[in-house]
Amino acid sequence: SKPRIAVVGSLNMDIVVSMKRQPQMGETIAGDAVHYMPGGKGANQALGCSRLNAETTMIGCVGSDPFGPMVLDGLAASGVGLDSVGVLEGETTGTAHISLAQGDNCIVVVAGANAMCTAAYVRQHEPAISSADVVIAQLEIPLEAVIEAFSIAKGKNAATILNPAPARALPEELLLLTDYITPNESEWELISGVSGQEDEVLLGHTIAEWEKQYNSKVVMTRGDKGCSYVEEGQLKTFQAPRVKVVDTTGAGDSFNAALAYGLAQRKPMAESVALAVTSASLSVQRFGAQGGMPTLLEVEAALQPDNR
Ligand code: RIB
Ligand code: NA
Repeated sequence: SKPRIAVVGSLNMDIVVSMKRQPQMGETIAGDAVHYMPGGKGANQALGCSRLNAETTMIGCVGSDPFGPMVLDGLAASGVGLDSVGVLEGETTGTAHISLAQGDNCIVVVAGANAMCTAAYVRQHEPAISSADVVIAQLEIPLEAVIEAFSIAKGKNAATILNPAPARALPEELLLLTDYITPNESEWELISGVSGQEDEVLLGHTIAEWEKQYNSKVVMTRGDKGCSYVEEGQLKTFQAPRVKVVDTTGAGDSFNAALAYGLAQRKPMAESVALAVTSASLSVQRFGAQGGMPTLLEVEAALQPDNR
């Protein structure tokens, strides 16, 4: 049967301006084009899970502006369950203002209706969470909502995955409710308070200590280097394949969706990580956060040994 994944998180309209280079402070430059594309870390991860063939439910909020339906249509078309997505009268849908130059981006996010996805809102949608095998959340909604969702999940023995993005300091209460945490390198520095990841022995040690303290697994994304995690006290790194990067927006979301899918199917860590890295590397080869999300067939094809 299909694994069931609940995604508790943001839905945004991504307003993407592509340009040759990022402007300097105080400078005005000409952009090449503007694109309106559905995004938001929550919605991206939900779409990613659904493309991988998981039964996916989204818990979150959009506004009553024209962006709301634009963001929801694509999710509905991909089979994401939207019964727990609120369309809030008088609110604006979250927006992400993305400057894209040479494959890399700078992003400003305006929360809008995502800020109304509170602990109380999550509680109202408890059945959507308690029926899942895996519950995944990010940090574009209020922290109290993530804590509420993970408390519900823990009561039902569902696995919880926290993608700590965008980075912020995290309360111990949340860390103790988190089974898997998926920071990138700078997020890991912020939440662990330890820098210097070039020292692999130190990194492995810091991760192992963290895992003991919070009884959770750290799965660290490392951009074009791939992904690292600790197994039997040793730091393991799954290398990302070399690819031509078009747009890194949503690469982390693609990674998290595939990791959630692997873990929901109780695949071993090494296999789940391979799926996740492969998904992310496919997603960066295409434009747009959601446009890049690969299907299960695409990921499986890319995982074939002769394609690596
Ligand atoms: O992770 C990528 C997402 O972050 C974008 O889709 C944008 O909405 C921002 O929230
Ligand atoms: Na992409």
